Amino acid sequence: MHKNYGLNELREMFLKFFETKGHLRLPSFSLIPQNDASLLLINSGMAPMKPWFTGEQEPPRHRVCTCQKCIRTGDIENIGKTARHGTYFEMLGNFSFGDYFKKDAIHWAWEFLTSPEWVGLDPNRLYPSVFEGNETTPADDEAFRIWNEEIGIPADRIFKFGKADNFWEHGSGPCGPCSEIHFDRGEKYSCGKPTCAVGCDCDRYIEVWNLVFTQFDSDGKGNYTPLDHPNIDTGMGLERLACVMQGVDNLFEVDTVQRIMKHISSIAGVTYKQDEKTDVSLRVITDHIRSTTMMIGDGVMPSNEGRGYVLRRLIRRAARHGRLLGIEHPFLSEVVSTVIEENKAYPELAEKKDLIIRVVKEEEESFGRTIDKGMQLLSELMSDSDKKEISGADAFKLYDTYGFPLDLTKDILEEKGMTVDEASFEQLMKEQKQRARDAR
Ligand code: SER
Repeated sequence: MHKNYGLNELREMFLKFFETKGHLRLPSFSLIPQNDASLLLINSGMAPMKPWFTGEQEPPRHRVCTCQKCIRTGDIENIGKTARHGTYFEMLGNFSFGDYFKKDAIHWAWEFLTSPEWVGLDPNRLYPSVFEGNETTPADDEAFRIWNEEIGIPADRIFKFGKADNFWEHGSGPCGPCSEIHFDRGEKYSCGKPTCAVGCDCDRYIEVWNLVFTQFDSDGKGNYTPLDHPNIDTGMGLERLACVMQGVDNLFEVDTVQRIMKHISSIAGVTYKQDEKTDVSLRVITDHIRSTTMMIGDGVMPSNEGRGYVLRRLIRRAARHGRLLGIEHPFLSEVVSTVIEENKAYPELAEKKDLIIRVVKEEEESFGRTIDKGMQLLSELMSDSDKKEISGADAFKLYDTYGFPLDLTKDILEEKGMTVDEASFEQLMKEQKQRARDAR
C-alpha cells in the first residue's frame, strides 16, 4: 500500500523530483494570461509557455517544471452538483523545449509514480494509453514500444485510443499525440458494466497524468508538419493525484480542500455528507472561494466584463449558496484566511491577504444588499406554476437592479425546471451598453 501524502507534500515532491532530472523549477505563472488574447484565464501548465514551445522566445532553460494555478469555468453550472467538477485546480507539469523527448518523459513519469522513493503507487494499478493513429497522423508506435519493451508493461495492458483522448491540440500550432496514465481505483468504483475498462466514463479508472509529445505543427486545417525540435508538455492534476494517494473519492475530500470546507461547515452549522442539498452548497462555496482567492491574489478585480465578471459571478454564486445554508451575514471573507493558510506555497497570497479579504467582503456586502429582494422577485416569478420561462425583461431587472448574473438566475430557475428568454435578455443588455456609449 502506498503512503498517504498531503497535497502540499505532493506538490513539493513532484517539483523536487524533476529538479533531480535537471529541470528549472519556476513559480506558477499568474492566472492572468500575458500577451495571449485567446484566453481569459490560464487553464493549463503549458498555456503561459506557448512562446517557448513555438520557439518565438528562448526559455530560461530547456527543461522546466511548474505547479500552475489553473481555472476552468466551462462547466460552472455543474460545480457542486457533482463532486467531480471544480473551477480551480493546480496542474503539475514537466516541460522540454526541444530537449528530451518521449523516452525520458515516459521513464520519469513511471519512476515518479512507482518508485517507493517517490509516490510509490502499485504498478499493477497503472495503465498507460497511446494514440492509435488516424488518416492524417500515424499511430504512436514509438510510445507503445517504450511502454512495452523498456518499462515492461504487457501489450494487453497498454490501451490505444483515438484523437479525442490521445491527441492534444488547441486550434493551430504545436500539437501531438499523448500518452495518458490511468489509475485503477478498484472494483468498488466501477459502473459494473461488462465493458468497464480503461477509458470508461465511470469513476473506476481515472486519468492522472497526460504526457503530450508535441511533435507536429498544425496549420489548423488538417496538415501536420513534423517539428524540427519536438517538445514535451505534461500535465498532472495535483488534486487528482492527491485523491489517489489519499484514497478519497474526489477533490472535495482532499486534505487541504476538506479543511476549507470544514471552516464553511462550522460557520453554517451543517455537516458534510448529511444531506445532498447542503452538500451541493458546501461544494460550490468551497470551490468558488478557492478560485476567487487565487484570482484576486493575481490581481483580478470584480467587474462587469471579462475576467472580472467571472470573479463576480463566482463570488455571487457562493454568496447565494451561503444563504441557502442559512448564513445571513457576509462570511466568505472569513474563509479566505483558511484558503491562504492552506496555500503557503503561494506566498503572494499572504502578502495580499488584507486586499483579498477586503475585495471579497465588499463584493459580498454589495450583493448582500440586493440578494434578498432579488430572491423575492424570483420566487414570485417561479411560483406562477403555468410559466416555464421568465422573460428577458425580468432576467434583466434581476441583473441590473439586484445584481444577479444571468447564469445565477438560470441556475436557480433550473432547480424548478424553468428557463430564461435569453435572446431578449441579450437584446436588453445590448441596448443598455449602447445607452452607456451614447451618454459618454
Ligand atoms: N496541455 C496538456 C493538458 O492540458 C498537458 O499539460 O492536459
